[in-house]
Amino acid sequence: MLEDRVIFYPLIIERINFCHNSKVLFDFKHLLKQKKYFLVAKERGWIFVSSVVVVGMQWGDEGKGKITDFISSQADLVVRYQGGNNAGHTVAVEDKEFKLHLVPSGILYQGTLCVLGNGVVINPGVLLKELNGLSKEGIDVSGLRISDRAHVIMPYHPVLDKLDEDNRVTSKIGTTGRGIGPAYGDKYARYDSLRMIDLLDEAVFEERLTSIVEAKNKLLTKLYGKPGFDLTSILTEYREYAGQLKEMVTDTSVLINKAIKSGQKVLFEGAQGTLLDVDHGTYPFVSSSSPSAGGACTGTGVGPTQINKVLGVIKSYSTRVGEGPFPTEILDDSVSKLRDGRGREYGVTTGRARRCGWFDGVIGEYSARVNGITSLVVMKLDVLDELETIKICTGYRYKNSIIKEFPASLKTLAECRPIYEEMPGWLTDTTKAKEWQKLPPRARDYLQRIAELTQTPIAMVSVGWRRDETIIVEDVWS
Ligand code: GDP
Ligand code: IMO
Ligand code: MG
Repeated sequence: MLEDRVIFYPLIIERINFCHNSKVLFDFKHLLKQKKYFLVAKERGWIFVSSVVVVGMQWGDEGKGKITDFISSQADLVVRYQGGNNAGHTVAVEDKEFKLHLVPSGILYQGTLCVLGNGVVINPGVLLKELNGLSKEGIDVSGLRISDRAHVIMPYHPVLDKLDEDNRVTSKIGTTGRGIGPAYGDKYARYDSLRMIDLLDEAVFEERLTSIVEAKNKLLTKLYGKPGFDLTSILTEYREYAGQLKEMVTDTSVLINKAIKSGQKVLFEGAQGTLLDVDHGTYPFVSSSSPSAGGACTGTGVGPTQINKVLGVIKSYSTRVGEGPFPTEILDDSVSKLRDGRGREYGVTTGRARRCGWFDGVIGEYSARVNGITSLVVMKLDVLDELETIKICTGYRYKNSIIKEFPASLKTLAECRPIYEEMPGWLTDTTKAKEWQKLPPRARDYLQRIAELTQTPIAMVSVGWRRDETIIVEDVWS
């Protein structure tokens, strides 16, 4: 009898998705939470949403932290797969605001396991400070696990990051100065990088660090004319970190794959955004990791066949911190309509004012494509509530042609002029809207236009930073 129900599950889901009968859906989901029924259904090749990637579709700061926290209420495991403490994710829980840099945004739910995957670069001192800060706020951080293959940010990385930027007259990237570029640089160059597993082995750590510090000191003293680092003090400092972190370090690929196989819900939390991706971003004005959805596989040791959905987090306008091209940027004082007020567009990590501009549909299509986004979460709609007219970029004019596909060449991009459509504003407070139908018709038209330009349906709309200021159009886990 029960088996029959499991057999008919996909058909029923299809029907339910059609008529949005969430009560019946809940009954069957409840059934499938029992491992034996889940396994029967999985064996028969029916697809279940067990793993979801959350990816930023612009230049970071889209609101990934808020959405990861929101969806984490139903997740068993939340996994960061790239980046480091260059990230700044804000999560508002009632009147408190948490600023997370390394720890996954799922940590705020008691009992959720959180993982820093092998693709993350870890500054152990920063991580311990963040964990202590969370513990002081009463957050249980015992669920954090760290990949034994993750690379470690060492004291010379932030120093080299800043020296590199300071010594450039032109083409500064405007990095966060957290040592991210030099740490990934060492990882890919291979000679001078240390992984968490090396940190835990005293003899290996000392041997490798001795030759690495020698090489780094040569660079610092001979090229930059700066003082070198003292090997003994790094050894002492990092041995202390190793002692405090060792219980959390494990083979996280095993952990995550086991969770997926047993039907647990796994959420992969991207940091940064697609246009900061070292392969797909506005290179060289990017970060050094792979925030796009593919990074969730390489950065965790989970195969692409195990990923069910890719949720694209996209702001209803655009922002960027640091240098680099930004076709729809607003360069006059009217930018404060987006940056100030409810926008609060100031960096979480460095406090820098974010550059702001109109929604860019060319970037939306590009990002949806390179990530294989299955649905969108449109953020910060409320920031547009008081605008009389809203511009939306539908293509670029380049010389005598119209470009719809985001160009690789920054020279071409610099010559592109956005083609704007103007849409009337809704001039209504949207923060209280709890359902799609409660949004003003003009706001729905604007959102529909975003869906059209990105060729992707909308799963959620965020109308404020609080958890309850979120409209669900489609259940992420179904
Ligand atoms: P992340 O790096 O992608 O996690 O984003 P950040 O936390 O750096 O920046 C997003 C900012 O927008 C934070 O201050 C959030 O509290 C805020 N935020 C998130 N969603 C909304 C929303 O729907 N409306 C408004 N007004 N603010 C939001
Ligand atoms: P979240 O996760 C916005 C930007 C920096 C700089 C470039 C390279 O909060 O969305 P890096 O220090 O990574 O070498 O800097 O990338 N950048 C971000 N911008 N949000 C972020 O993270 C960012 N992380 C890095 O400003 O332009
Ligand atoms: Mg941020």
